[in-house]
Amino acid sequence: MLKSVTVFAPATVANVGCGFDIFGFAVNVPGDIAKVTLREAPGVDIVRITGDDGRLPKSAEKNTAGFAALRYLKTIKSNQGVEIELHKNLPLGSGMGSSAASAVAVLFAINHLFEHALSKHELLPIAIEAEKLACGSAHADNVAPALFGGFVLIRENNPPDIIELPVPAELHCSLIHPEIVIRTEDARNILDPMVPLKDAVKQWGNTAGLVAGLYSQDYELIGRSLQDHIIESRRATLIPHFHEIKQAALQAGALGCSISGSGPSVFALSQSRTKAQIVADAMQAVLNREGIDNQVYVSGVNQNGPKIIDQEE
Ligand code: HSE
Repeated sequence: MLKSVTVFAPATVANVGCGFDIFGFAVNVPGDIAKVTLREAPGVDIVRITGDDGRLPKSAEKNTAGFAALRYLKTIKSNQGVEIELHKNLPLGSGMGSSAASAVAVLFAINHLFEHALSKHELLPIAIEAEKLACGSAHADNVAPALFGGFVLIRENNPPDIIELPVPAELHCSLIHPEIVIRTEDARNILDPMVPLKDAVKQWGNTAGLVAGLYSQDYELIGRSLQDHIIESRRATLIPHFHEIKQAALQAGALGCSISGSGPSVFALSQSRTKAQIVADAMQAVLNREGIDNQVYVSGVNQNGPKIIDQEE
């Protein structure tokens, strides 16, 4: 029987421009790593967290990953317990699905230790609850792509109805993280709960256009559809030089560009890795010029979700 499993779970780009709370995709880098070790004593202990500057709670009930493990053990009615080591590569409050990656890494690892007692579809509601603990809202557009990989549509959150969309082979993402923190809860609180009908019409045209573009591998249609008429203008006020970054990405040839999740990270999609690298360089040049520390990533869409990187008997 396996004693411990170490899992990598990917960063995710939620919303994808036009699909607030309904679209998300996973990338290959960066991501969080969790080592989960089985023990006879019941309960969940978080024995070590690295990469969070001491900011995450170590109490399992208060920590997204610990909470997910507790819920998992309760769901399968196990009397055993686990110890968790969490290695955060994703900054907190980055808009790259940091809490989702941690919860998914732990859930995937613990489920492997318990010989896949639950399916990914059964793990998802636990991950959504863990996301709610992290940011006060039970949206699935980070946890679902982190868990399933690929590009997903969340047609309905409760109960979750997840549709895995096809990803054209040449689609690549440039992702830039300016080193500031935006709490998802704050970025949600500044949104207007009322949407004018004319904006809603444009938005659902784009969401349908994006799905059609993914199915038909029509990169131009994907680009035309990556426009948000409801969320972006409000949240852009929180992100330094957002409009310059976006303009630089589009001028460098990106299909489209918008805020990743609740920000401050900004993503762009392009039709080739080479183009995505050029776009990433252009986006980074804006922040470098302004003296804002940042990290930049170029990746295809991650088709697999979490992966086991080590295991011990
Ligand atoms: N859909 C969520 C939001 C994602 O934009 O608030 C948070 O990462």
